[in-house]
Amino acid sequence: MLSGYLRFLCFCTLIIYVSCYNNGVARTPPMGWLSWERFRCNTDCVNHPKNCISEQLYRDMADRLYEDGWLKHGYEFVNVDDCWSSKNRTTEKELQSDPVRFPSGIAALADYVHEKGLKLGIYGDMGTLTCGGYPGTMGYEKIDARTFAKWGIDMLKLDGCYSNETEQAVGYPLMSKELNATGRRIVYSCSWPAYRGGLPPKVNYTLLGEICNLWRNYGDIDDSLEAVLKIINWWGDNQDALIPAAGPGKWNDPDMLIAGDFSLSFEESKLQFGMWAILAAPLLVSADLRIIDEKIRDKIYFNTEVIRVNQDPLGIQGRRIRTDHMCQLWVRPLVGEQQAIAVFTTEPYGEPTGFTFTLKELGIQNPAAEYVLIDIFDTDNSFNHNSDKSYALTEPITIEVNPNGIRMFRAVPYKFSVSELKVDVLEFDLL
Ligand code: GLA
Repeated sequence: MLSGYLRFLCFCTLIIYVSCYNNGVARTPPMGWLSWERFRCNTDCVNHPKNCISEQLYRDMADRLYEDGWLKHGYEFVNVDDCWSSKNRTTEKELQSDPVRFPSGIAALADYVHEKGLKLGIYGDMGTLTCGGYPGTMGYEKIDARTFAKWGIDMLKLDGCYSNETEQAVGYPLMSKELNATGRRIVYSCSWPAYRGGLPPKVNYTLLGEICNLWRNYGDIDDSLEAVLKIINWWGDNQDALIPAAGPGKWNDPDMLIAGDFSLSFEESKLQFGMWAILAAPLLVSADLRIIDEKIRDKIYFNTEVIRVNQDPLGIQGRRIRTDHMCQLWVRPLVGEQQAIAVFTTEPYGEPTGFTFTLKELGIQNPAAEYVLIDIFDTDNSFNHNSDKSYALTEPITIEVNPNGIRMFRAVPYKFSVSELKVDVLEFDLL
């Protein structure tokens, strides 16, 4: 028999499904791999045969996603970015892949990833050229949508280089219509807001939610903590405009995950991944999965508690509650009256920084509520799964955060005992 709590979870999920339907895809933020940040536009396969943009690179990543456990954790997309195509369309005006670097073609690549249970994403640009100078989609929307559907594409990132404001206002909705007209369910990622400053009134988030499944709001990430923090701060500063835009089937996209590349430490990698979960962001890893540090992969990318927060069925984007010197406190409401809490610091002092907060300041309404805290990253410390300590709303909670580190908790209402919750969540996963 379903327990009361499980019935409640199912009911919430049903409501979400019924009230927010558009093209039915990306009900939770998409998860997978995307080539751009790590592999850029390297077309030199003579000197860089393993790292150039080629069908071999995407096959290698599909193999890793499948064989190394990524797919089991939900990372299902293998996404091609810029520089995959030939500089010329075919005589039928269709896009075609570069014949040297993709000798088997994109349809064969799609077959390869589909056979592993993965999905294939591709990159286009609604202007006259892509940002890297390859053919753009403007004027070819119908042909390109049909070509992508024919090849078996599952996600399209449509960039906005070489187009102006007026052209974008026509091109992005038009491509949405053409993709839907193909009858294939293709996740549609629009870079439109990033080209219009990311904020209303220049950006119409209501319209975006109706035509796109996700959208880049802001500038490109690069391989630095500075870039990660710049994005997080912009999200916090503009949260009142961004939070209402997000929900099942429609996500703000703060750009790729760079944890596992050259620059972030282990703590900084946790910081990015944890905050992307709080932000309900797409989890598109842009690292070399063939050589990625196993600790970063297993302890961070495969952390099922963080993934659970990211994939929460309510799809509510998190909010910054407080900035205190170099610490930030964020909260994200989860299904079943739970809350995900994150505290990170950029304090470089050299020893962990103390931080105190109360559950009351997270905006929880019921004054009688008490919560158990589950430590999401460090399950073996004092806030672990076996802890039966509960916190009243006004009780100060003091934690320590490592330099450039993050602490994350799932706050569970005490009325659902921890053991009951564990059973329910397990059953819920199997539905
Ligand atoms: C833009 C996008 C990047 C990437 C490049 C490709 O800069 O924002 O994510 O797709 O174009 O040229």
